[in-house]
Amino acid sequence: TKNPGEIVVARAGSPLVIGVGHGETLVASDASALLGHTKQAIYLNDGEVATITKNSVEIKTLNAEPVSAKVEEIETNLAAIQKNGYEHFLLKEIMEQPESLKETLRGRIDLRDGLVRLGGPGLKEKELRKIKHLVIVGCGTAYNAGLLAAYYIEQFTPEVTVEVVIASEYRYRQAYIPKDSVALIVSQSGETADTLACLREIKKQGIKTIGIVNAIGSTIAREVDGGTYVHVGPEISVASTKAFTSQAIAMVMFGLTIAQAKGVRNNILRPYIKEIAALPGEIRKVLDACNEPMKQMVEQYIKYEHAIYLGRDTAYPVAMEAALKLKEISYIDANAYAFGELKHGPLALVDDRFFEFVMLPEGDLYDKAVSNVQEVLARGGHVIAVTNKEEFDLPVENVVKVETSLTIFAPVLLNLVAQLFAYYMALCKGYNVDQPRNLAKSVTVE
Ligand code: M6R
Repeated sequence: TKNPGEIVVARAGSPLVIGVGHGETLVASDASALLGHTKQAIYLNDGEVATITKNSVEIKTLNAEPVSAKVEEIETNLAAIQKNGYEHFLLKEIMEQPESLKETLRGRIDLRDGLVRLGGPGLKEKELRKIKHLVIVGCGTAYNAGLLAAYYIEQFTPEVTVEVVIASEYRYRQAYIPKDSVALIVSQSGETADTLACLREIKKQGIKTIGIVNAIGSTIAREVDGGTYVHVGPEISVASTKAFTSQAIAMVMFGLTIAQAKGVRNNILRPYIKEIAALPGEIRKVLDACNEPMKQMVEQYIKYEHAIYLGRDTAYPVAMEAALKLKEISYIDANAYAFGELKHGPLALVDDRFFEFVMLPEGDLYDKAVSNVQEVLARGGHVIAVTNKEEFDLPVENVVKVETSLTIFAPVLLNLVAQLFAYYMALCKGYNVDQPRNLAKSVTVE
């Protein structure tokens, strides 16, 4: 009442952005909320206080020292935060993965020379060559993407160990990080409190930090030493889908730059690079082929309250991600296990209360995975198999055949089937697919 027409805002931890409009000033927690009003934004830093009126923004520190406001252009356009004819953001975001992954790859793949070029991390060839250890930090889907990337990076990068850690745990561990390490900080929103806390801890140890972030200008993006934006555009549905695919591939590309610097032979790296370049097209084919069948299939499974997801090798992190998707939007108790772990406990669960979603990419461990599926079937399991193997004759309840010319990254394609399955399952159960209960898109508190 004393200062009409004036609002005072302050930032402490959670994101805060000020929109500079025409004859109006706006305050939001995310720049995308400002679209439709203005494209001019001021991102406040922690410990800053802004006094705003409809025509002015005055920023100070907590000690009342003036801060000059940096006005930045919001790159996102309005269409990117609309449903574009889809019933839900989740389906839109699943379906736009061919395009969003293309944005992740844009200008970064040189097919002619078989090379990956990432400018953002800002590491010189000499620095890349010295890397002996990668720590990948994330939560939820970002963690799963890190785990998937780790399986790939280990395949082609000699002398580099990769450790993937859950941010909420790592921030309180007394972990020693060797000096020749680089930390990849993975976050779609760039605002996750636990991931941010890890970033700050790791920086204190003098370790180089590289962000694998989507939200441009977010806190993590601003605090890392360098980074590779995944550029998938706004991800609005709480359940992360397109970010997962692009985060995993961006990290694999970072691994490829290390391998290149270390002199790994081109004939080893080229198949990875060729398949990455082909992925957007293959994703389109799989989404088009599987959308309708998944819509039909879910009806058979809505009666279940428990699901087991199984995979091994690169399909194991994919199974973890697939289980997370199902549980968070359809509220089915879904857990993932590595096939080899079945007989160490989870096999005891198999009965009519459960169905099993098994990931079977063609490859060296295919036969071993098949024999694990047989163990499940022998115990009366209700199995849905997703595979890119042409001849498949196991007596499972349902099989989804993914047709693709890819081998290395086939598990990424199998994940699309699981994304669609989770979406239609939640839809069929009548749940709010974009905003599942108890969850938030950006977890800015501990
Ligand atoms: O924004 P972030 O990538 O840091 O978010 C991390 C997790 O909160 C997030 O991936 C969460 O697990 C998703 N809702 C899963 O779909």
